[in-house]
Amino acid sequence: MQPFIAAMQKVRQAFLAAIIKSFLRTKHVLQTILNIWISPSVIKDENGSISSRNGRRLGAAEFVEVVENAFRGLVGRTRLVALSDGLRKEFLDSMYDNPLCMLPSYNHQLPSGEERGTFLALDVGGSTFRVALIELSGRKSDGQECKILKRNTFKIDRTVKQLKGVLFFDWMAERIEEVLSGQAEGHDMSNAPLTMGLAWSFPIEQTSLRSGLLQAMGKGFLAAHGLLGQDLGDLIQESCSRRGLNVQLNAIVNDSSATLLSKAYIDPATRFALILGTGVNAAVHLPVHVFSPPKFGVRPPEWHNSAKHVIVNTELSMFGRGILPYTQWDELLLSVHPNPTFQPLEHFVSGGYLGEIVRLVLVEGIQTAGLFGGVVPPSLRERYSLETETLSHIESDLSPNLTKAQAIFLSRHPTNIPPSTTDLQTIRLIAAHVTHRAAGVVAAGVHALWQLRNEAESILPHESSHTLVAYNGSVLENYPGFKVTCQKHLDTLVEASGGKKGSIELMYAEESSLLGAAVAGAVASLDG
Ligand code: BGC
Repeated sequence: MQPFIAAMQKVRQAFLAAIIKSFLRTKHVLQTILNIWISPSVIKDENGSISSRNGRRLGAAEFVEVVENAFRGLVGRTRLVALSDGLRKEFLDSMYDNPLCMLPSYNHQLPSGEERGTFLALDVGGSTFRVALIELSGRKSDGQECKILKRNTFKIDRTVKQLKGVLFFDWMAERIEEVLSGQAEGHDMSNAPLTMGLAWSFPIEQTSLRSGLLQAMGKGFLAAHGLLGQDLGDLIQESCSRRGLNVQLNAIVNDSSATLLSKAYIDPATRFALILGTGVNAAVHLPVHVFSPPKFGVRPPEWHNSAKHVIVNTELSMFGRGILPYTQWDELLLSVHPNPTFQPLEHFVSGGYLGEIVRLVLVEGIQTAGLFGGVVPPSLRERYSLETETLSHIESDLSPNLTKAQAIFLSRHPTNIPPSTTDLQTIRLIAAHVTHRAAGVVAAGVHALWQLRNEAESILPHESSHTLVAYNGSVLENYPGFKVTCQKHLDTLVEASGGKKGSIELMYAEESSLLGAAVAGAVASLDG
């Protein structure tokens, strides 16, 4: 038996060795296939092509072409005109009965230019809380209409965003105290309370110049938790009183309305404002008669008697569901969004989302077209990890080797396989297509409002006077080429609707939220 068992063992060993050898060979083949799959540059170098989707992998250039076709075609002239028409129709419907958008403020008068005094301006933005002591000296021709005496910026990080309910307003009051604890130049704190104006970058249902009901907040904030429908003015005032601060909140305005007020204080012809930063919004001065009466809620008869026009917070971010030019990557973004239907237009254009759309496209390019040697940098696997600001640095590097772009990318997204110049150029191209579409969508929104106002005022497009749109926000201000592209789309749209090129002009409004909050405070003080 022994020799037989020994022989069997030998046979078994030989068999196993053969299997292992074969497995190793297969593994080698599998590994090679895997290597080719995740590092298609190998194939590209040897064969000049990359296999991919539908059995054939795309090369980087082909992938960019696919991205270009997906995004560019969506904002050609005809598509933009249709989008503008669709948005205008949605605006009109919302002016009839939507409680969330096309919200008439209480500001029925634009600044007279006589606003003077020292005000504490508060600006709650998407990622910062800013507090400034501002001195207004009235409209003048020498550019000295306002002076910022003191200004502090506090970051609103994840922890602050997650403060629920009153805790958030207490945090605000604490910051205000910090600013006032140095001496408030230009104001004797022992006397009458210091007048505050607030720019609020969230929807609000105004109930007077100085009050408004808290509505659902986007941008990851939890402050409205348990407080929906409560008075925002009271909440802030109470938190300040608890800290014994001698301040009086006199005005609340949405940041889009603040932008309009800030520019109108200096240039009385301003009727439009546009914000494009973490969020997007527009404000417009419209005749009251175009709204259905319930849109005004309960207001004193005196308001109705004197209001012929009103500044409207459009909440532009909330329009466009179903008519916006979606791609597969937008669908992907929405498939895991906690609130996919709340602000459809914002998902296409704002600083809060541009980076994420580009990330989704890029990750697909890495996985299917061999960008970055087929290896996704670990941090890019995380949602919202690619910031719009990073893209703006990458797009602004015009050097042939993109050295700065590479340094900034690697500092934020370290990886073992540093991006090649081709990889960086590809990111630039993807970002350019995504932002080109965004600029078109924003232009369609502004054009739709322009058409709506022309109709409301019975002005024909070719008779429309030069319209200034006061703008502010990090994307419009800092993203390379964004404003210029947006202006070009606007010119196209204006001409398509029979107007003169340049009829709508985007005009920078510096420090618009802070200045607008101070102007709103001053207007409210004059109003009594
Ligand atoms: C908010 C608006 C705000 C805009 C710009 C949007 O997400 O809903 O109220 O004006 O962002 O900050």
